[in-house]
Amino acid sequence: EKGGYDHFMLKEIFEQPKTILDCLRGRLNAENGTIQVSGIENYLDEISKANRIIIIACGTSWHAGLVAEYIIEETCRIPVEVEYASEFRYRNPIIHPGDMIIAISQSGETADTIVAIEKAKEQGAIIMGIVNVVGSSIARISQTGAYTHAGPEIGVASTKAFTGQLAALMLVAFKIAHHKQTITEERYRELCAELALVPGKVEKILEQNDSIKAIAETLKDSSDALFLGRGYNFPIALEGALKLKEISYIHAEGYPAAEMKHGPIALVDEHLPVIFIATKDIYHEKIVSNMQEIKARKGRVIAVINEGDEITPAIADGVITIPEADEIIAPILNVVPLQLLSYHIGIARGCNVDMPRNLAKSVTVE
Ligand code: M6R
Repeated sequence: EKGGYDHFMLKEIFEQPKTILDCLRGRLNAENGTIQVSGIENYLDEISKANRIIIIACGTSWHAGLVAEYIIEETCRIPVEVEYASEFRYRNPIIHPGDMIIAISQSGETADTIVAIEKAKEQGAIIMGIVNVVGSSIARISQTGAYTHAGPEIGVASTKAFTGQLAALMLVAFKIAHHKQTITEERYRELCAELALVPGKVEKILEQNDSIKAIAETLKDSSDALFLGRGYNFPIALEGALKLKEISYIHAEGYPAAEMKHGPIALVDEHLPVIFIATKDIYHEKIVSNMQEIKARKGRVIAVINEGDEITPAIADGVITIPEADEIIAPILNVVPLQLLSYHIGIARGCNVDMPRNLAKSVTVE
């Protein structure tokens, strides 16, 4: 049932070109530049009028929420807050009429997320679910939403569910932005075309499995690791760090790269690997100078960069290359090598990657 792979985690990472396509299928028509998401069509006017969107989730799904915050604010011009379900539910949260909640959950059964959205619903918010498991509790509580269609995820670490969440959230964001006319027709078509290219680009990233495994070999004895990214890639840094912790038990932290100077740089010495998510965007130059600062302190730099980047390889100890993509789309690509990196580090350390110690696939108790 592992389809020839040694572990479910690896199988699920490799399934992503297909699962992302499954999420886009029937919804995205890149040729005509149109998006149809049946679960939200009836709510488009209401969503477009929302004064505020609150995204509620836990763990990896919360990271998908953070990426969505950047994308929705940029394209739909609606203010977004991203909340840990466990914090939101106990905070007597302020919900105004016209607020909209997006609940993100692979399982649809996470206890804190369920209670949080039930409370918000009682206070009159509209709930949109971005859920993987069809017919799950969160899907049933939600009035509107989109399934991620990633198929059953067996590995405890979320991989294909995360990229499915990002794909579904991108569809929803671009659809709303188009409806609200907060992006031009031309930009909408461009984003649709870029989104359609994602499965093929993920396929190309997966071809680097062997070189990512070689990089993993150089990191396997580390006791700590730092992941840095900015903008759309800041949440990817958080996700890279969470994946590494879960799968290899290496202590890892994710930070926005510019925050490095406000504390974490004190950790840097020859033993600390720093993984930069540094694909081309407005921050690229700044992130390159962060890398130089790490090198100057003898840290080890691993960089996720775009094909054709000629500067970074001279600075970094290891590079992973990603096909060029629009910066809004990039996070869905950039997370894939980080999943593989964690997998190979976990395997090299003899960890049970499909069932890490102390973790449950879905956290149905608070
Ligand atoms: O099923 P959910 O998406 O609601 O689960 C949320 C988290 O428990 C989950 O993402 C968890 O952090 C995973 N172990 C991450 O790999």
